[in-house]
This record gives sequence, structure tokens and C-alpha cells, in this order.
Amino acid sequence: MLAVIMAAGFGTRMKSKHAKVMFPLAGKPIIGWVTDAVACFLETRPPATIAIVVGPEMEEIHAWFHQQMPMFQKRGITIKLFNQEKRLGTGHAVKTASSAFEGLLDDEKVLILNGDVPLVQPATLSALVRAAQDKAGAVLTMNLSDPRGYGRIIRNDQGMMGQIIEDKDLDMNQRAISEVNTGIYAFSVHSLRDAIGKLSNDNAQGEYYLPEVVHHISTQNGVVGTLILQDLWEARGVNNRYELSMIEQEVNHRVSKHWMLEGVTIVDPQTTYIHPTVSLGMDTIVMPMTTIYGNTHIGQDCVIGPMTQLVDCRLGNGVRVERSHCKQAQIDDHAQVGPFARLREGSIIERNARVGNYVELKKTRLGKGSKAQHLTYLGDAVVEDDVNVGAGTITCNYDGYAKYPTTIRTGAFIGSNTALVAPVVIGKGAIIGAGSTITRDVPDNALSIGRGRQVNKEGYAEEYRKFREGNPKGGDDRAL
Ligand code: UD1
Ligand code: MG
Repeated sequence: MLAVIMAAGFGTRMKSKHAKVMFPLAGKPIIGWVTDAVACFLETRPPATIAIVVGPEMEEIHAWFHQQMPMFQKRGITIKLFNQEKRLGTGHAVKTASSAFEGLLDDEKVLILNGDVPLVQPATLSALVRAAQDKAGAVLTMNLSDPRGYGRIIRNDQGMMGQIIEDKDLDMNQRAISEVNTGIYAFSVHSLRDAIGKLSNDNAQGEYYLPEVVHHISTQNGVVGTLILQDLWEARGVNNRYELSMIEQEVNHRVSKHWMLEGVTIVDPQTTYIHPTVSLGMDTIVMPMTTIYGNTHIGQDCVIGPMTQLVDCRLGNGVRVERSHCKQAQIDDHAQVGPFARLREGSIIERNARVGNYVELKKTRLGKGSKAQHLTYLGDAVVEDDVNVGAGTITCNYDGYAKYPTTIRTGAFIGSNTALVAPVVIGKGAIIGAGSTITRDVPDNALSIGRGRQVNKEGYAEEYRKFREGNPKGGDDRAL
């Protein structure tokens, strides 16, 4: 089967340098949503092709599909992009992709849709193709209380669809018609090919209208069926950033509702954003102002937030993350993170480990039961089990040229304000005195102190005060 997605319109009302259909909606470009819905339907009928009609200067769309190509190929779907050099109308857009019709049987159906309707569902596309069975085609329609701007469905006395008239071409009586064209169609190949050749641009907008295909088919005694859409969100297009935000909220509402019905508590769905790609376990609680994005998977009995961002993270069961920012991190069962922690890519927080306030980790494993509770940076480090990392510990992992590893073995105790100059290994059960700068490996069970020796000068403070009182403007006190 073949589907054509029309996306050559730049979307000037977005007022942007970027093509409208590339705007992200819940983590995926608008065109990706449409293409995915089509792919979900088409993958049940392989081999399938999706032809995407794009306009000039839409390199971003090419690049995105190029990157996604292998994923679609795995699903048995070929993506073909067609450049519509001049935007001469939707009829012309489909014509631009007509070489994709080659090799299709005359009776096969071509699915056509706009590239800016992200919430269209595979089941609707499937129902539309069924409605087109044994006919020349079918149009997805909907009833609107305010049909302005849309093409109206003109039915004959028998209630069959005769034609679609664009808003700008309507006469006074037709304006009241509430049934409109959603811009989603299924036509059989031969009817479409035939009718496309006959389109004219003799209309109010001087464009080749795709809906005119319906008129040509019915004057040839062909029958075009209709399917009336129930959930109007499916045909809702994005024309400006306000509409995009409305759809973003709707997607978020649906995703939150799904997880709430699956046993997840979302305290405030209005301020919580969860991408559709995320999964959450039963009895997990998501606190307000939390965003959970991308390929994030969360186990059961976790408490996430408030004010937490998780991107591409994997969390076990009973994990607590509070007011923290985590990206590409793994947090195992019953570990605690935050408040105010930052876990960067490659952080692994093992079972029962704790990461506290103002602690940053990058490419670091914090072993079972280990703790880094305050003001610490651990980068390129392996911290084994039951280690205590004192406040203000820093792994000096970068010398301006390369990154070096730090290893802290099981049961070691790192005193506060320690600088571990990598590469360095701290042995099992070793103790590092507070304020140390450690530049050499520390053996197992050793005490290591690397700091200036403390000197106490008896009575010095008194003498110093006397000197300053005799010299109110200051002076050379080096003699002291
Ligand atoms: C179109 C329909 C209208 C329907 C409405 C539903 C036509 C003439 N009218 O109107 O009956 O009610 O959709 O939203 O089709 N495009 C191209 N190349 C072009 C022109 C458009 O690829 O030369 C693409 C656009 O990027 C867009 C889609 O086709 O994704 C629809 O074009 P648009 O101009 O938005 O048509 P509407 O006026 O909305
Ligand atoms: Mg439109």
C-alpha cells in the first residue's frame, strides 16, 4: 500500500525559520507523529511505501527522515521524499509524488493526508480504507459548529458525496454546511490517477485542489464514500504555536490519564509533562512540576519530584528523586537522589546508594549503599560499595587535554574537601583525611593525608592585634 503525506507548506503562521512540521510535539516532530500513525496502519499490510511531499528549503525534514529510515525499513516501510518546487496546491502535491504509484494495482488504495495532523490514529486510517473498499475512494469528514476555513462536503439527494467546495469558493447557502473535509482521503489508484490529470486551478485561490478529485470521480459515476470522524482532535491541524501548545496539552493529558489508570499517582497533571515514550510502574508517585522525557522507564513505588527532570533514564523500584536533573542515568532499587542533584550521561546509582544536594555525577558508578551527600563532583569514576564520599569531594578528572579515571574501592572513606587527582585508585577500606589533595594511589586500609601541616603559634594572635593597634594604617607585619 501507498500513503502520501503532504507537507510542502512551510507554515508561515509559525513565524519561524523552521518548517512547521518539524516543530517538536511531546519529543517528536509533528511529521513524525503523522508518519508513525500511518506506519502503524501500513505495517499490517507490507510492503508499504510512505511518500512525503516537502517544499524547497526543508533540509531539516530530509535529515530527520534520513536518520529514521532504518527504523521504518525494519517495519517493512519505505520512505520516499518528493520535492514540490512550487506550492501549486494539494492536487499538485499529490501529482508530484505520482511516480510512487508505479507498480501498484489499479484497485489498490492510496491513503492521502496532511502532514500537520499529529493526533490522527491508525485505527481511523484503517476504518477509512475499509470505507473506501469497493468504491473509488472515501473521505474522512467531520461536523464542526464553526466550519469556517474548511472545504465543505456537498451531498446529493441520496446523501452521497458529490463534491467538496473550498471555503473561499462557497456560495451563501453552502456556507451553513457543517460537514467538512478533514484532508484525509483514500482513493483507488486508477481513479486518483485519472482525476489528478483533470484538475484545474480555476478557483478562488488559483491552486490545484486535491478535493476536486471527488467531483471528477462522481461525474464519472464513481462512488466516493465518507467516514465521519468522532474524535475531532484527530483532524486538528497545527497552524501556529498556540495551536501547537493546545495539542501538546492534549497529548500530555492523554498520557497522564493512561498512567493514572495504570496505577501511577500524578499529583498535578497540569504541571507534569510525560512523553508518550515513557513507562511508569504501579504505585509510583509523580510530584508537581516534573518532566519525564524520552526513553525513560521507571519502576514501582518510586517518588519522583517535585521539580525534577528525567531524560532517557532507567529507574528501579522504590527510587526517590527530588528536585533533580537526570539525563541518561540509571538509578537502581531504593536509591535516593537529590534534592538538587545532577546526574549526567553514564551515571549509575546502585541499590540503596544516596546522592545528595549539589552533587554532580558524570560517567560514574556509585556502588551499592555508597553515599555522596553534599557538594561533590564525581566524573569518570568507579565508586564501589559502601563508600562514604565526604562533602566537597572533587575528582579532578580533566587536565585540559584528556579525561582520567578514578577508582574508589569498597568501604573507603573520603574526608571532606578532598581533591582526587586522576588517574588514581583509593584502596579498600582506606581513609582519606579531610582537605587532602590525593595524587598517588592509596593502598587498601591505609590512612592518607595530603595537605599542609598545621602550625599553632602560641600567643601570636595577641601580638598581631597589638601590632595592628600601633599601626592603624597597617604596615609591614611580615616580621611577625
Ligand atoms: C485543505 C483542503 C480542505 C480541508 C482542509 C483540512 C484543499 C484544497 N483543501 O485545505 O478541503 O478542509 O485541508 O485541513 O486541499 N500542501 C502541499 N503542497 C501544496 C499545498 C499544500 O504539500 O502545494 C500541504 C500543506 O503543507 C498541508 C496540506 O497540504 O499539510 C494542506 O494544505 P493547506 O494549504 O493547509 O490546505 P487547507 O487550506 O487547510
Ligand atoms: Mg490547513
